[in-house]
Amino acid sequence: MRQYGFAPRVRTYLYRRLISLVRLYYNRFWGTQIGEGTRISLTAKIDKTYPHGVRIGRFSAVTFRSSIMTHDFVNGVHLDTTIGDYCFIGAHSVIMPGVTIGDHCIIGAGSVVLRDIPANSLAFGNPARVIERNIMTGVFGARIRDPAAARSVPSEPDSGADGSSAPATMA
Ligand SMILES: CC(C)(COP(=O)(O)OP(=O)(O)OC[C@H]1O[C@@H](n2cnc3c(N)ncnc32)[C@H](O)[C@@H]1OP(=O)(O)O)[C@@H](O)C(=O)NCCC(=O)NCCS
Repeated sequence: MRQYGFAPRVRTYLYRRLISLVRLYYNRFWGTQIGEGTRISLTAKIDKTYPHGVRIGRFSAVTFRSSIMTHDFVNGVHLDTTIGDYCFIGAHSVIMPGVTIGDHCIIGAGSVVLRDIPANSLAFGNPARVIERNIMTGVFGARIRDPAAARSVPSEPDSGADGSSAPATMA
């Protein structure tokens, strides 16, 4: 098993503390509902016009430069936008106001999600389309292909000591 030195361990510790603070910052200061264990990239955009409408489940990942929107100035609407548990939102994706993404979904990089995505789906593109159904994901939306492993989704993040197997939520 690979051993990690002192510096990577300290870096990983600080990284995890900072990322959990990001979730608390959004929940306590802005009133979002972001679940335990979910990681939000520092460069992701969480709609602060109607932050109460942002609902994200547990152990999901919102990766860099993606946007979770809850308002549409043009149409004058404020809508709840929901992302389930164990989801992965790819880099530079846009989740439009009012959309619901079910549990265990993967949204590919650069997608524009205009319509609801059913649970256990892989979707991507602009507009995002469901490409595959009945998929399984674990922590941070990592895909689980082994049916035996899928029956027991882990409840704790399983990243390396340097955090390298976790999604790039710091960027
Ligand atoms: C969606 C995703 C998970 C699919 O991965 P995959 O199952 O290995 O898919 P493949 O790479 O084999 O691609 C399959 C097809 O889908 C297309 N495709 C894959 N991802 C796509 C995307 N995000 N947008 C549009 N098309 C995509 C490929 O071009 C390919 O098309 P083809 O069959 O016509 O050649 C992956 O492409 C992705 O977007 N990952 C997220 C990366 C990211 O955001 N990283 C930053 C944070 S860690």
